[in-house]
Amino acid sequence: MAYQPGPSHHLQTGYFNKTLQQWQSSNTSIGTENLMLPIFVVDSPNAVETISTMPGVYRYGVNKVVEFLEPVVANGLKSILLFPVLKNLPKDEVGSVADSSDNPAIQVIPLIRKQFPSLTIACDVCLCGYTSHGHCAIFNSDGSINYEKTLARLTAISKAFSEAGAHIIAPSDMMDNRIHAIKQGLLSLKKEAPTSLLSYSAKFCSAFYGPFREAAGSAPSFGDRSCYQLPCGSKGLAIRAAARDVSQGADFIMVKPGLAYLDIISELKSRHPEYPMFVYQVSGEYAMLAFAAQAGALDLRRALTETLTSFRRAGADVIISYYTPQVLGWLREEA
Ligand code: PBG
Ligand code: ZN
Repeated sequence: MAYQPGPSHHLQTGYFNKTLQQWQSSNTSIGTENLMLPIFVVDSPNAVETISTMPGVYRYGVNKVVEFLEPVVANGLKSILLFPVLKNLPKDEVGSVADSSDNPAIQVIPLIRKQFPSLTIACDVCLCGYTSHGHCAIFNSDGSINYEKTLARLTAISKAFSEAGAHIIAPSDMMDNRIHAIKQGLLSLKKEAPTSLLSYSAKFCSAFYGPFREAAGSAPSFGDRSCYQLPCGSKGLAIRAAARDVSQGADFIMVKPGLAYLDIISELKSRHPEYPMFVYQVSGEYAMLAFAAQAGALDLRRALTETLTSFRRAGADVIISYYTPQVLGWLREEA
């Protein structure tokens, strides 16, 4: 029988442009390539909305994203992570809007690519922002997770984002074996350009996602996410999840949140030194620093720099941070 390459044998999905190549070459300083900016894209095209729990962060409508990005890209922004937010579009049991042309992320990708051809675009893939129940899965009638349907939806959404022009697919749902399903889906696309897969490998069940759920309107309507996100104390599950995701074809892996999980970053980086490691400084970490600085309790620039440096020291190659625009401004000043 002819030799069949496995999912992790596709190396070139992980280094097809300058930014991705720099991610593959890690060091400990913080440069523009080490920062990725999350952006909330809301389904009212002309909206610019404040988020009370994240002062300084906004939700942008499709027509406002390019304008917001202009000065940030001029300051050196290399990569973004898109989060669609549904306020008007319908939510249902299976998240039908996610892979439709109504999805504001699908609408905005071509606009961003046209305006900023060298910006690397990642898309968060999950169901919680599109489902009526706000969970990251589709359920059976007895309330258990239907993995077959869930993985099929996650794969369809990933393919739709890739076809819209996303460079990186970033599934945050934490369902078992989604990386395998999505990887196969991406490899089956009739598209010449490769698509990377960034797995939220070690995503813990965390109070630090509180502000995000307000920002994205994705809080679960019942229960919590503790049956799919990892228990805070479990290094073992984090290690097993990262090993599995790598074996199923992830190009990059992630630890989330950041500050309370530095030991996990270090452990996973030492186990998978050949994979770029991402850390997500989540909404609650942003809020903690923002409100403390607002109250005059600490100096934002110094506290933030210390935090970001600790991520790099622990082994993170790329830091996903809502503070990216400020940090790029500081880097520019220092240059
Ligand atoms: C959706 C998702 C969440 C975050 C990223 N993707 C929320 C959650 O899992 O409840 C959190 C990001 C943040 O807090 O900044 N699955
Ligand atoms: Zn989710």
